[in-house]
Amino acid sequence: MMIDEELLGVKIRRAGKNFRVSLLGGPSQGLVAWKRTLAKLIDDKVLLEPEAGKALMQRDGDVTVYEVMNLSKSLPALKAIDSKVKVACDITLLNYGIISATDTGELFMTYGHDHEKPFGEVYSVLAGSGFLMLYQPGTNVSRAVSMRKGDEYYIPPGWVHRSYCGDEGMVLVGFVPHEAGHNYDAVKGKGFPYHIFYDEAKQEAFFRHNPGFGKSELQVLRAKKRPIGAMEKYLVAPEELRRLLEMRV
Ligand SMILES: [Fe+2]
Repeated sequence: MMIDEELLGVKIRRAGKNFRVSLLGGPSQGLVAWKRTLAKLIDDKVLLEPEAGKALMQRDGDVTVYEVMNLSKSLPALKAIDSKVKVACDITLLNYGIISATDTGELFMTYGHDHEKPFGEVYSVLAGSGFLMLYQPGTNVSRAVSMRKGDEYYIPPGWVHRSYCGDEGMVLVGFVPHEAGHNYDAVKGKGFPYHIFYDEAKQEAFFRHNPGFGKSELQVLRAKKRPIGAMEKYLVAPEELRRLLEMRV
């Protein structure tokens, strides 16, 4: 039986606390991908403690926090699905790390964004573990969703979202309609109402409120194993997945 990532055409291997992703067919020529490094997260003030970020930059340099691989722009089988239903399939490879030169700091995270148009998105974890952090600007209600391999979460339209690594890196696959778009200005210069930190000595994650936001509710949840089966739907019934992502909930 083929494992999840093989169905998508990629191979994942562990490298310490992190993961490496490569194309099953061999060299990753033709793979459309980009990476985000620490400097941009500091410059755009999307993390809670820019000074701790600068201290880490001084110690380790401009480290790669995460990489995004646009699979449905790269692999012929997925390209065909993408052009038919206009739903992108991207992998996010989030490295493990804390943004600090000490043993406590904010966990490595993605920049975060809102969608320009009200479409949902599904994230599934292919390897590792971490969190999905989302909030609804109108209510300021936040959700921190703990995610492990095999878990899946549906991000409803109108929720600003980002991912955090856990005590290891995390490889996510996401499915979102092209028209959704990415609004990074929703996060630039302000971050999120709650940020996730990690104490390496205690091996414990904890939340910190961002004073730039008013006090608000934080719901801490655990994702479920494949409630949607987005990956299977994308491969065998992509129109069905598309309809689900168009739902206004
Ligand atoms: Fe998104």
